Amino acid sequence: MRTPLVAGNWKMNGTRSSVAELVQGIVAGAEASSGVEILVCPSFIFLSQVQALIETSTVALGAQDLYVEQGGAYTGEISGSMLRDAGCQYVIVGHSERRALMGEGNDIVARKFAAAQLEGLIPILCVGETLEERKADSTLNVIGSQFSAVVDAVGIEAFATAVVAYEPVWAIGTGETATPEQAQEVHAGLRAMAAKRSARIAADLRLLYGGSVKADNAAELFSMSDIDGGLIGGASLEAGEFLAICTAATG
Ligand code: PGA
Repeated sequence: MRTPLVAGNWKMNGTRSSVAELVQGIVAGAEASSGVEILVCPSFIFLSQVQALIETSTVALGAQDLYVEQGGAYTGEISGSMLRDAGCQYVIVGHSERRALMGEGNDIVARKFAAAQLEGLIPILCVGETLEERKADSTLNVIGSQFSAVVDAVGIEAFATAVVAYEPVWAIGTGETATPEQAQEVHAGLRAMAAKRSARIAADLRLLYGGSVKADNAAELFSMSDIDGGLIGGASLEAGEFLAICTAATG
């Protein structure tokens, strides 16, 4: 039985006051949403602030990235142990924005995944194809190589405490969502790839969909058999909209 997870990826947004308002709104509504795990991933600078505000709630805390090393002379970087110390349970790795804008390849993503688990953090591994790759019919090949690069590095057993998010690059922040059928096809493909390594791990692995999920398209996406929740960008910045997406995952 896979408990749905709805994660808000706030990206590089917010101020201390907007973050306080957003998180208070989410906490106030979260109690009504049983049967779904709710996670917020603020920018590093807001982690401690958000941690204090969610402490007595069921809302979990995650970060958007981490560095591959545990500590030392790495100016400007943040380690898994620091995230753990700040109260994080989860961390996003391999988001397509980092792959595209910060040049993160599969090897770095695999090292970040391992670094997260070394500190007891649950990595949310993002995979996704570009529009060109989809048009060239190579979606499942691209997803397969992003996924297996990590499985080959850390082993399939590591996915007992990990989450995978399928985020088609062409759907992120564009208002264009994969249809439930398109998303389901990739999710089923991902689960089949995992099952080739371990049927047991594959059956329990939570697969999130991300890319322009909104309150009005969430329910039909989440109704698909291999979609176990969502990774939400823009729509996670408004408490009411985000909570409606969380509610859609309980259905
Ligand atoms: P979006 O972003 O919901 O704004 O498309 C999703 C993501 O990048 O995680």
